[in-house]
Formats: sequence, structure tokens, C-alpha cells
Amino acid sequence: MRIDKFLSECKVATRSETAKAVRRGAVLLDGVPVKRADTPVDPETSVVTYCGEVVNYRRYTYVILNKPDGYVSATEDKREKTVLDLLDEEVTKFEVFPCGRLDKNTLGLMLLTNNGPLAHTLLSPKRHVEKVYRFECAKAPSEGDIEALQNGVDIGGYVTKPCTVKMTGDTSGEITLSEGKYHQIKLMFEAVENRILYLERIRFAFLTLGDLERGEWRYLTEEEIKKLEGLGK
Ligand code: URA
Repeated sequence: MRIDKFLSECKVATRSETAKAVRRGAVLLDGVPVKRADTPVDPETSVVTYCGEVVNYRRYTYVILNKPDGYVSATEDKREKTVLDLLDEEVTKFEVFPCGRLDKNTLGLMLLTNNGPLAHTLLSPKRHVEKVYRFECAKAPSEGDIEALQNGVDIGGYVTKPCTVKMTGDTSGEITLSEGKYHQIKLMFEAVENRILYLERIRFAFLTLGDLERGEWRYLTEEEIKKLEGLGK
């Protein structure tokens, strides 16, 4: 990869800015000023320095966010606040988008990335990526309701795939899905004449919130990225 492309992909400098910086001797490859903006670099092994700062190459950006109430899972919206409003410019400049949707009033774990092919794969129903939600419903579901939810219910012309429901109180529990239809859990509970009052995603694949506070985000670790990208293979 050319060094000017490398720097523009890393959102450090445009190609013309790199050309100027090269002329000033401000672009180094492995500690040595480069003479040309088309100097080849190996993004994995080269140490590139731009105006005194070492530039780390990141092909894709991944963050997890603990979504608060009241934000829509979109990249832009005319009226509503979007989950991107919770991220910093250092992340949004890489044009990340939510990998799957949570309703405006659903809270919890949201993965955002600019890796389109991986997001597509992770959301494919064939992948069976597990999503775990903590819920509170309006009334205690019967044994029969729980069995129906687990076996599959009709949510308006679509019968949901088998899932797991674990009650943790009379009206609270955790539901594990391996698919993600629009408003799925709310519609599933309506199908058994109940109603969801609170919904929070607490796991997406192997990712959990840990000590991430509501409204906070963090980058995935290298290890998490490797594992996540492995799920896409
Ligand atoms: N199911 C829902 O009904 N809403 C969500 O936000 C996620 C799953």
C-alpha cells in the first residue's frame, strides 16, 4: 500500500497533505524520511510517523456502546438523537454504523463497526449469533407461555425460531435469541398476551458490557476483534 493511501485510510492526512508533509520531511518510514508519497508500506509491519506521531494502522474500527434510553439505532435522523451522537469524532470519522438495531427504548450492548461484510455475516440468520436480553414484562408468564416463547410464536406471519427463556423473578428474566426480527421480543410477548416493560441487551455473541456504564463506549480489544472476525469466517 502507498504511504499516502495508508495515511488517508487512517484519516491522518489527505493525499495532498501527505504530499506536502513528504516535501517537508515530516513523513517517516521506519524512522527514515520518505522522498515520495507513493512509497510502499506494509500496514502490518511498517512504522509510519506523520509530523512526529506514530500512526497505527487499523483496517476496521469496532466499538461497543452501552446504549441508553431515547437514542435511535441509526447513523442519522432528522428528529431523534442517534447512537452515533454518543461516540467521539475520533470514532465517527471512520464511519461506523450499528451492527443490528435496538429499539429507541431498548438499552444495552450495541456493536458498531465499519466492517460491512462482517456486520452482514454476524446478522445473517444462518450464523445463529446469540443475543441475550434482560427483560421485565407486565405479568408473570405461565409455564405454557414460556414453552410457547421457547418453541416459537407467530409474530405476524413469521414464526420465531426456538430460543431460551430463563425467568429470574415472577416478571423478569433473560431471553436468548439467535435471530433478530424487528421488535422481535416485544412482539413475542404480545403473542402470549403479555407486554415488555423493560428490555436490555446484555450479550452479543461473546461480547458483554462488563463495567461499561450507560452511555459509554470502548474500542474492542485486539483479542475481541480476532474472535469476532473469526465468527465471520
Ligand atoms: N426485540 C425487541 O423487541 N426490541 C429490541 O430492541 C430488540 C429485540
